[in-house]
Amino acid sequence: MSRAIQGYEKASAGLIPRFEAVSSAELYTPVDHLLSQGAKRVIDIGAGTGRDAAWFADRGQKVLAVEPVSQLREAGIKLHPSPNIQWLDDTLPTLPHVLEREEKFDLLVLGAIWHHLDEDERRLTMPVLRRLTSADGLLIMSLRHGPGTSDRPCFESDPEQVIDLALEQGFRSIFRKSADSIQARNKTAEVTWTWLAFAPTAQDRPRKNII
Ligand SMILES: C[S@@+](CC[C@H](N)C(=O)[O-])C[C@H]1O[C@@H](n2cnc3c(N)ncnc32)[C@H](O)[C@@H]1O
Repeated sequence: MSRAIQGYEKASAGLIPRFEAVSSAELYTPVDHLLSQGAKRVIDIGAGTGRDAAWFADRGQKVLAVEPVSQLREAGIKLHPSPNIQWLDDTLPTLPHVLEREEKFDLLVLGAIWHHLDEDERRLTMPVLRRLTSADGLLIMSLRHGPGTSDRPCFESDPEQVIDLALEQGFRSIFRKSADSIQARNKTAEVTWTWLAFAPTAQDRPRKNII
């Protein structure tokens, strides 16, 4: 188990209300125009308490909420009971339990989790994400920049490196935008974010196409 996951386990009691205090609608504002394209099957990887999973579920989408920390999963099941959400205990970079379901998703969400993966894990993660993306699917990620907490290790996320990794694995880059934190605590710590979105390429040669 990674140190980050252990850190989330220990801090879960305090983190649950903090995660729940965030407005998904406000958080997803930078990519809102991409979400209105009618994704049907969503996977939220590192779903935390399922705040965003519930937001997608309320829009009528079927969500697989993947979260390795049992305290967060159990809180999510209680806080967001919905027939549109299914919870799964699984862990990046390999997501073995997700892969064994042999499903593809129209929308893959990695919200505030990439910074917990080291370079080797990131290399292993991207092909898994590509494998899970449907032909007209979309991968959306938010990358955290700035200090983390010592018990939940935080690696710097260079958007260019993420884009290159995605292009190598058969995605094309369709969106990139910087955003400030919406949580007061993160704002004070000068944490900022980059939102990225990728679509699978049908071509052998990937291309950069930032809009
Ligand atoms: C900053 S929280 C974000 C939670 C949620 N996406 C949100 O925006 O509220 C990071 C989440 O990623 C999960 N996580 C950390 N490492 C992970 C890994 N290797 N695989 C899957 N989830 C992981 C943590 O347990 C935690 O729920």
